[in-house]
Amino acid sequence: MKRFLLALTTFALVAGAVEAKTANEEQEAIKFANNIIKKMTLREKFGQLEQFVTRKGVVTGPEGVKRDIESAIRNGEVGSFLSIRKPEEALRLQKMSVEESRLGIPLIFGYDIIHGCKVIFPENLAMACSWNLEAVERAARVAAEESVAAGIHWTFSPMCDISVDPRWSRVSEGAGEDPYLGAKIAAAMVRGYQGDDLSSDKTIAACVKHFAAYGAAQAGRDYNTVDMSELMFRNLYLPPYKAALDAGAVTVMSSFNDFHGVPASGNKWLLYDLLRKELGFKGFVVSDWNAVHEMIIHGVAANGKDAAELALKAHLNMDMVGGDYIAYGEQLVKEGRISEKLVDELVREVLVIKYRLGLFEDPYRYGSQKQEGAYYRPEHLAFARNVAAESMVLLKNNGVLPLQKGVKIALIGPFADSQIDQLGAWRGLGEKEHSITIRTALEERFGKENVLYTKACECGRYKNGLIEGGIEEAVKIAEQSDVILLSMGLSGWHSGESRSRAEITVPADQQQLLDALKKTGKKIVVLLATGRAMDIRNEVEKSDAVLLTWHGGTMEGPAVADLVSGDKNPSGHLTMSFPYHVGQIPVHYNSKNTGRPAKSQFKAQGYSASYVDMQNAPLFPFGYGLSYSEFEYSDLKVLTPTVELGGVVKVSVKVTNKGKYDGDDVAQLYVHDIVAETTRPVRELKGFERLSLKAGESKVVTFEVPTSDLAYCHQDMSWKADKGDFKVWVGADSYATLEGRFTIK
Ligand code: GLC
Repeated sequence: MKRFLLALTTFALVAGAVEAKTANEEQEAIKFANNIIKKMTLREKFGQLEQFVTRKGVVTGPEGVKRDIESAIRNGEVGSFLSIRKPEEALRLQKMSVEESRLGIPLIFGYDIIHGCKVIFPENLAMACSWNLEAVERAARVAAEESVAAGIHWTFSPMCDISVDPRWSRVSEGAGEDPYLGAKIAAAMVRGYQGDDLSSDKTIAACVKHFAAYGAAQAGRDYNTVDMSELMFRNLYLPPYKAALDAGAVTVMSSFNDFHGVPASGNKWLLYDLLRKELGFKGFVVSDWNAVHEMIIHGVAANGKDAAELALKAHLNMDMVGGDYIAYGEQLVKEGRISEKLVDELVREVLVIKYRLGLFEDPYRYGSQKQEGAYYRPEHLAFARNVAAESMVLLKNNGVLPLQKGVKIALIGPFADSQIDQLGAWRGLGEKEHSITIRTALEERFGKENVLYTKACECGRYKNGLIEGGIEEAVKIAEQSDVILLSMGLSGWHSGESRSRAEITVPADQQQLLDALKKTGKKIVVLLATGRAMDIRNEVEKSDAVLLTWHGGTMEGPAVADLVSGDKNPSGHLTMSFPYHVGQIPVHYNSKNTGRPAKSQFKAQGYSASYVDMQNAPLFPFGYGLSYSEFEYSDLKVLTPTVELGGVVKVSVKVTNKGKYDGDDVAQLYVHDIVAETTRPVRELKGFERLSLKAGESKVVTFEVPTSDLAYCHQDMSWKADKGDFKVWVGADSYATLEGRFTIK
């Protein structure tokens, strides 16, 4: 007993010491910042609250106010830049700020490192489908290490926006429709970017975006209004932001959309009451591009001065490219509309992060690394290849995959040999020349003589439609081959910001190509390139297999070759439902039962929450993914049929690989709160585990679900779990049928 007490005391002392160290660090940083603030003029204070861009024209939005960059730096009128693409440029500007401005305050450089810096990983929605948190964290760390060498201090990532609407093109940047998985992924990315020492030369500052609920833009139209109950917001949209903050993210980005009627950048409830008072956030908030100034267009500010006042009072620290803070800040203080005390607080929060990044200690640490060998390290490329393979989802396979050795392949379509498209949107500093395409990898794996290729049609920003003679050429090589691998879908340009689509089917010319190839009678494997869920009923019906390759990043090609050859076994599982039809949107697994649930989700019917012309169920549900193996789930045991509030629910299940291939599966645990204070989703993901099983092997998986994970928002906005009865399922997707029950007492 004595030893136990000693251990306990030691643990408490150590934990306390860590706490104290962090608190001391915090105090030291604040003291340092306050000493600088004392010396600053009011104009220099507003300079620290301005972020500017060096590139001209539309960078990631309409150009902000034109400014003389160098005089702004020398006069201390700017504190940050975004989108600087070369370390030497970053170091040049940093030197100017540190050595030629009055106080020598270092600049902080931000960049959209969303799914990789130089080595580009699959788009985030794809990576989420690996359900591999260690891989997600490591991908962020690789991106951070490359970013440091590139002179970047801060990434505008993770994007934590939940969305159930694939018409919104930015679903490519998030983790899909589920708050539990989205929260785990957001926290993993923050850990990857920031590590446990922001001043290390392997870590950068993270940014939780877009705060908040940007993924709920009405009609899936980017930037559109968001309006929802606070209860829905807290249950479905807040968890990933909160998880990223709890993981220590030091910055937040306010979103373009209005929320409860006020644009996020001027929304005091969001940025101060919720973010700082309730969630305890101590870092700083940067607006999205020009979003402060756009409050005039939203109609809540008459001019730039009013917009600046609204944003400052909402506790928005940094204005991205709008220029209203530096233009009107001093006047607002002189007129008594803004207190200098508030300005000091906003400035302090920015200076503290610069301090924690080590920028005062060594402003040239980032970007001064030897460039040779800093990027595209072989071990990082090999890792990216594996992540891409784990992110891809086998949606259909009637046995045509894996391909047999010596098979002759007709490789056709717009993305099979497109180095740029496989990088998706937000390509960071990725260079397409480093992309290994599907064509290159298949030629390498199956022999050049066994891969006949033609593009047949274009799809992208500038060129779309069939190539002259493309169909004829495609049919010709198909007839000379054993199997067709048909690359279809949407280009990398169609992902990311401001690419919303009302139609989410594959473009008509590609469908024409598919029809022509179908007539050859050859087996067809569709390789689906996309950054969003789509309506692919047509492609599923007319093909023998569908492999969702997403925009798989630098190493997409080798990953596809690994999978179609059987060298690797597909293991991805969807984190966003694929609608049966765009008319179903929003369609997601965690919907409510209603008082008149459909008798079947799979057929049209009346007198229930359903359609008379179509099924409710999506084409492919959340969690779905096939393998070359077949995994059997059995012997579900609820080890804790009753559990106290504050306890842990334990459920075990046996998983057997019945196939002839070794493979990974993602065991998923879902619950339903049968009677609660408010209506609860028919299913909620509350646990998952990636399992590797050799052919014939069985494993027993035990899930442990703390009752705190079963908390939800009550009518009084309190967040807590209730006593009561629950159903629980475990399986390989959200349709899992293996069922049990437990009670919280
Ligand atoms: C863009 C995006 C945001 C990005 C920022 C800087 O408009 O909305 O995600 O981080 O501007 O590029």
